Amino acid sequence: MAETLLSIRDLSIAYEVGSKDVVAVSGASFDVPQGTIVGLVGESGCGKTTMARALTRVIADNARIDGGAMQFDGQDLAALSERDMNALRWRDISFIPQSAMNSLDPVYRVEYQIIEVLRDRGGMRKAQARARAVELFEMVGIDPGRLRDFPHQFSGGMRQRAAIALALALNPKLVVADEPVTALDVIIQRQILDQLRGLQRELGLSVIMVTHDISVVAYICDRTVVMYAGKVVENCDTATLLNEPLHPYSMGLKNAFPDLQSAGTGVLTPIAGSPPDLIDPPKGCRFAARCPFATDLCRNTEPALTEAAPDHHVACHRASEAAVLRETAKDPATWGAVT
Ligand SMILES: Nc1ncnc2c1ncn2[C@@H]1O[C@H](COP(=O)(O)OP(=O)(O)OP(=O)(O)O)[C@@H](O)[C@H]1O
Ligand code: SF4
Ligand SMILES: [Mg+2]
Repeated sequence: MAETLLSIRDLSIAYEVGSKDVVAVSGASFDVPQGTIVGLVGESGCGKTTMARALTRVIADNARIDGGAMQFDGQDLAALSERDMNALRWRDISFIPQSAMNSLDPVYRVEYQIIEVLRDRGGMRKAQARARAVELFEMVGIDPGRLRDFPHQFSGGMRQRAAIALALALNPKLVVADEPVTALDVIIQRQILDQLRGLQRELGLSVIMVTHDISVVAYICDRTVVMYAGKVVENCDTATLLNEPLHPYSMGLKNAFPDLQSAGTGVLTPIAGSPPDLIDPPKGCRFAARCPFATDLCRNTEPALTEAAPDHHVACHRASEAAVLRETAKDPATWGAVT
């Protein structure tokens, strides 16, 4: 197994809202092995962006890291001073924010924005930065002749590629990409994911791929961490997650998204209901109200994340029955029956 680049242990992050706390990430633990793509998947509001932002410590003013550790290459990101953290950003860990394709400044040419990062963060001189910008555009498949365009002259896919180029500018060890292909059509999604995969292999990068779409995970991720309502509920290699999920939420997610390979054929079964309020979450399993397999134990006692099989972590009281539950979960009526 590859060496661990990032190890997150018992991480909790809360947002202060008035006198209350929204605990957006609650006791999360997982590892990112060197040179792998790790998916962070779950539905809207489960804490993916909060987790991704905590890794670069670019968090909202009302956010607070409430405990836990983020060991990256021998240092705890949660404990670093702002100055030391700043030195790591772009150079060691870079972040592609959600809606990155809209994050380029419309007022400046794309080239200027890339060169600024290379000069500011990489200490490059102008000519060197210009040459690197050309190289980066070639890497992500944009004609360097377009460098002097303004962002509005780019298509959505090109702007997303430019955001990826920016993230790779200083050869980071880890790229955290928050929903990098969400707003794009399936063909462009595939092209960009193929490119990212190619670059990841060529450069030996580690990537955290944040997505709500399990078909993106299936397409590109080596490992997958499934989040539900601020908790990590399953964590294993992607093939195992897709073929032998142990958590009912993972089983449901699989039914709910079209396959990127088959471009959306097949019946989709959404998971009825919505996640719990993170200000006052239920005392038992957070998925219990939507889970077709919930028991009284589930409703009363929170399941801990445990290693149910080698290198396969899950938080479910019924994980030992997963083979049987998987068969039942394949039937759409199983999910339709939950109110
Ligand atoms: N600044 C904030 N103040 C208060 N609550 C917040 C803040 N930012 C996020 N939240 C809440 O924290 C929870 C997690 O949000 P987060 O953005 O991390 O989810 P997400 O999984 O990235 O969702 P999406 O798929 O919609 O991007 C949600 O309940 C959200 O409403
Ligand atoms: S612990 Fe119970 S409610 Fe929660 S996912 Fe497992 S079976 Fe469903
Ligand atoms: Mg998000």
